[in-house]
Amino acid sequence: MKKKMAPDDKAIAPGSTIGVIGGGQLGRMTALAAARLGYRCHVYCPEADSPAFHVAQATVAAYEDEAALARFAEAVDVVTFEFENIPAETVRILSQHVPVRPNWRALETAQDRLVEKSFFNSLDIATAPWRPVLDRAGLGRAVAELGRPCVLKTARFGYDGKGQVKIEETTDLDQAWAGMGGQPAILEGFVDFEREVSVVVARGLDGNAACFDVVENRHRHHILDVTIAPAPIPHRLAGQAQDVARRTAHALELVGLLAVEMFIGKDGRLLVNEMAPRPHNSGHWTIDACLTDQFEQLVRAVCGLPLGCPERHSDAVMTNLIGEEVNQWLPLLAQKGARLHLYGKSEVRAGRKMGHVTRLRPRSDNMTNH
Ligand SMILES: Nc1ncnc2c1ncn2[C@@H]1O[C@H](COP(=O)(O)OP(=O)(O)OP(=O)(O)O)[C@@H](O)[C@H]1O
Ligand SMILES: [Mg+2]
Repeated sequence: MKKKMAPDDKAIAPGSTIGVIGGGQLGRMTALAAARLGYRCHVYCPEADSPAFHVAQATVAAYEDEAALARFAEAVDVVTFEFENIPAETVRILSQHVPVRPNWRALETAQDRLVEKSFFNSLDIATAPWRPVLDRAGLGRAVAELGRPCVLKTARFGYDGKGQVKIEETTDLDQAWAGMGGQPAILEGFVDFEREVSVVVARGLDGNAACFDVVENRHRHHILDVTIAPAPIPHRLAGQAQDVARRTAHALELVGLLAVEMFIGKDGRLLVNEMAPRPHNSGHWTIDACLTDQFEQLVRAVCGLPLGCPERHSDAVMTNLIGEEVNQWLPLLAQKGARLHLYGKSEVRAGRKMGHVTRLRPRSDNMTNH
């Protein structure tokens, strides 16, 4: 059961194998970046039909399958993940054999909106006002305290706006609570935002951090539609957003990537919404527009290598291809300046992220705020 336990301060050299938990497009793009630096990737995912399996070694097994987890951990030199909802026990088993980066604390904090918001507030990082909601009576109290409109979200397992409901003047609270399926929830004050932005920061084993530029995100039907890099916001705010991301990564002693989603209120205030300790959809533009992209930074960080320069060499607009939009692949390929990325998903489904396209423009300024 030994081997593979590379001392924490030692680089994991090219030729080694990076284990990735989760087989979606984020895992796929991580494996592509890893291959470019001479690493192999081994992806562990319960779904046999996973896009990352096309470009990596595969283990198809449940997250509860202890024997499969142990075999996987033995076969790789470091483990990272491309989504957060991994059971604690899975991470514990893997950690017995091999370094797991980012650490469990970062995952655990991001898995639960209540823990996450408390954590941000403990760092003096502002969020929307919020209250835990554990039952129907608690919802009534929380709505009375925060006022309408407000947003009720399940504390765990939400993505692409799933598991959340906006509470307007006329929303029936019994129905809103029923939508939570009896799960613990959080009530957040509704933020009348001017725009949504995010920051991806990489943090290495040596504690150095490298921030990508702040980007603006526009959603459609609760799914990320467009990312605009850089966000058209004042330098002061951009610096503040990057500082929040950096401080959060340091506080978690995170090794890997951290994406932080934020609102800019109409009053110009920055409020953190949530974080993800993994590659992020709003970081896909970095593949085509930065000297080092988010996936390569992840590989560098988890392997204990120096981080790359995150500088933006071009401005970029990244557009997600959701569901049937992917059928535009041929005209997109013919479009000058459009960089097409397809995820190789076998089935087109409504609301499914099938690919993205990035369009570059010459860099607009000399912002070197990393
Ligand atoms: N408190 C709020 N006030 C106003 N809008 C909100 C609030 N919370 C969420 N939203 C809107 O809903 C979107 C999705 O919310 P959130 O990021 O919390 O959930 P999610 O399911 O994790 O989404 P994703 O997977 O897209 O990140 C936000 O990007 C924002 O547009
Ligand atoms: Mg979000």
